[in-house]
Amino acid sequence: MITIVGSGKVGGEAALFTALRKLSDEILLLDVVQGLPQGEAMDLNHMLSEKGIDVNIRGSNDYSEMKNSDIVVVVAGSGRKPGMTRMDLLKINASIVKGVVENIKKYAKDSMIIPVTNPLDPMTYLTYKVSGFQKNRVFGMGGMLDLSRFVQFIHQATGFSRDSIRALVIGEHGENMLPLARYSTVSGIPLTSLLSKPKLDEIVQDTKQVAAKVIELKGATVHAPGNAISAIIEAVVRDTKQVIPVATYLDGEYSYSDVTIGVPAVIGKNGVEKIIELDLDSNEKELFKKGIESVKTAISGLEF
Ligand code: 2OP
Repeated sequence: MITIVGSGKVGGEAALFTALRKLSDEILLLDVVQGLPQGEAMDLNHMLSEKGIDVNIRGSNDYSEMKNSDIVVVVAGSGRKPGMTRMDLLKINASIVKGVVENIKKYAKDSMIIPVTNPLDPMTYLTYKVSGFQKNRVFGMGGMLDLSRFVQFIHQATGFSRDSIRALVIGEHGENMLPLARYSTVSGIPLTSLLSKPKLDEIVQDTKQVAAKVIELKGATVHAPGNAISAIIEAVVRDTKQVIPVATYLDGEYSYSDVTIGVPAVIGKNGVEKIIELDLDSNEKELFKKGIESVKTAISGLEF
């Protein structure tokens, strides 16, 4: 069973894509708001009925129903409003996520947790610490979403099929994210040989800023995060060993410890099965370090 805690727009969309990909027979939507998860579940089940997909989606306000969950996605909390950075949500969301994780510990102690609530990297750290789960079983969704935006900009700049583009974004899911042009390709052809340096700089900047633009225009990002969540769930459920950037606990990797941040990892049935350490150049190292510092500052202000 897959549980999604938080039944707003992103939670609902994550349930939609998870059901369409047929990743579990049962999906539980949880929320503290009475009626919301139940209504969302009904609406989704009606859609699945027309499609003839036998995935059962349930809505509940009762945390104890999450027992037997294999994966718990945590989307609960406030989303970014226009003009806000992800870090602006730190204080508001920390207590909400802490409460959710205590319930996961109580009712679904054998699950894996995918934090999604912003600010993503500090929330993943909090989740890891409060749950006491092994580090491979807690991995935040941020880089997968960032890379989907990078792919879109590469597609627009080159005109080549999205299907042939492999892109990588690591670091903080925030102001210091690090789209890695040097590690991105179109069917194996290095991106750096396809686009000029000024164009690459432009699309890297666009990738960092585009979520704020979407929020300014429509109030929230919904489809891309919902899909990115289901892509990570798929790698676990189908044990694909796909290399995906996730926010995970570093214990010496990239020369940092006791911090969670986006790095490429092999994702399979055991969650984070291996962290891949890239050889970063001095500029990339500097940006990665800025992300680490930002996350560490946020973590130091958390109480749990
Ligand atoms: C996003 O990048 C707001 O973190 C959220 O869509």
